[in-house]
Amino acid sequence: MIYLDYNATTPVTPSVLEAMLPWFSETFFNAASAHQGGRRASHAVDVARDQISSLLHCRAGELVFTSGATEANNLALKGLRSGASRMVTVATEHKAVLDVATYWSERGRPVTILSVSRDGLIDLDELAEVIAVGDVGVVSVMLANNETGVIQDLARISEIIHQSDALLHCDATQAVGKMKVDVDELGVDLLSLSAHKLYGPKGVGALFVRRGVELGTQMHGGGHENGMRSGTLNVPGIVGFGAAAEYVGAHLENSMKLTDLLDEFTSHLAACGVDFDVVAAGTPKLPNTINIRFIGADGEAVMVNAPKVAMSSGSACTARIPEPSHVLTAMGLSHAEAEECLRISCGIPTTVVEMREAAALVAQAVTRVKELTS
Ligand SMILES: Cc1ncc(COP(=O)(O)O)c(C=O)c1O
Repeated sequence: MIYLDYNATTPVTPSVLEAMLPWFSETFFNAASAHQGGRRASHAVDVARDQISSLLHCRAGELVFTSGATEANNLALKGLRSGASRMVTVATEHKAVLDVATYWSERGRPVTILSVSRDGLIDLDELAEVIAVGDVGVVSVMLANNETGVIQDLARISEIIHQSDALLHCDATQAVGKMKVDVDELGVDLLSLSAHKLYGPKGVGALFVRRGVELGTQMHGGGHENGMRSGTLNVPGIVGFGAAAEYVGAHLENSMKLTDLLDEFTSHLAACGVDFDVVAAGTPKLPNTINIRFIGADGEAVMVNAPKVAMSSGSACTARIPEPSHVLTAMGLSHAEAEECLRISCGIPTTVVEMREAAALVAQAVTRVKELTS
C-alpha cells in the first residue's frame, strides 16, 4: 500500500514507540500515586508537558491532557465560562466543533456559522461585523483544514476578535507538527491538538488553556489536570505524545518540504493527461495536503480502481456517511463537483518514488472510471 492519508492518522514513529513501551509494563504506575513509582510516572508526564509546550510556545501549566482533539474541542466549547453568549464558528470546521455548535443552538444559545469563499477563507469583514454587534462569547476557527489544508489567518482573526471580550478557540489538530504553531503569534486563548496526527499514539490529545481563561470541567471525578479533566492519566500515551512533539519539532523543515512531493504528484498527473483541478489552488495551505478534483470521474470510483493507494474522499471521521464533504460544498462546489474530489495527504516517511507510482496508479484509475462511465 502507498499510504497517502496522513491527515486521517499517522504511524507511531519508532522513537515514540520506544519511549512509550516501559510505561505499559516495567513502570506501569499511576501518576497520582504518592509512592516512588507514582512520582516517576508523574515526572514522565511533566517531561511530556514540557516537550509539548515547547512545540506550542506555551507554558507547561497551560496544557490539559485529554483523549484527543474531539474531547479538547468539547472541553473548550462546552466548558468555557464567559459572560457573553454567542458562539461563532465556520462552516468548514471539523464535526467536533460544528456538532458542539448544534448542541448549543438546540439549547437556545445563539450561534453564528460564518461562510467561506471558494478559496476556503472566511471573510474578515463579516467576522468584524458579527463582533461589532456584541455578545460574542467564543469564536472557534481552525488553523488548517483537514480536507483542503487551507490555512486561516489566525493572527488577523485574533486581532478582530480581541477588540471585544470574546475568546478565540482554535482547532489546530492538523496544523501542529506540519507548520510553526505559536500560541502567542496566533493570539489564541484555547487550542486543541491530537497526538495521532503527529506520529504519536491514538487516544491522547491536549487543550491549551491560556492562563487566566476559566473553564468549567466536563469530566468530574478525582480532580486531575487541575480539576479540568478528571481521570487517571494515560501515562504511556502522554509520554508518546511528548516524544512525538519532540519528533515533529525536530523535523519541521522536512514537513515544510512535503509540498515538493505534492508538486511531483500533480506534475505526473498532468503528464499523464489527467484533467484535474486543485481545490483552493491559490490559497496558503498545509505543505502535506492537496485536494484534487478529477473532472468527470467520481472520487470514490477512482479510489476503488486504485486500491494500492490509500487516499480519502472526505474527512476520515465522516467518510462512511455517503454525503459529499460539507467542507467542499461550503466552499461553493456543487455536490457533483465535490464527489469528484480526493484528498491526498503525505507525511515525513513519504518518498518521491511512492508519489510517482501513486500518480501513475491514480491516472490509470481515472482513465478506467471515465471509460466505464462514458
Ligand atoms: C481538524 C480536526 N479536528 C479534530 C479531529 C478529531 O481528533 P481526534 O481523533 O483526536 O478526536 C480531527 C481528526 O480527524 C481533525 O482533523
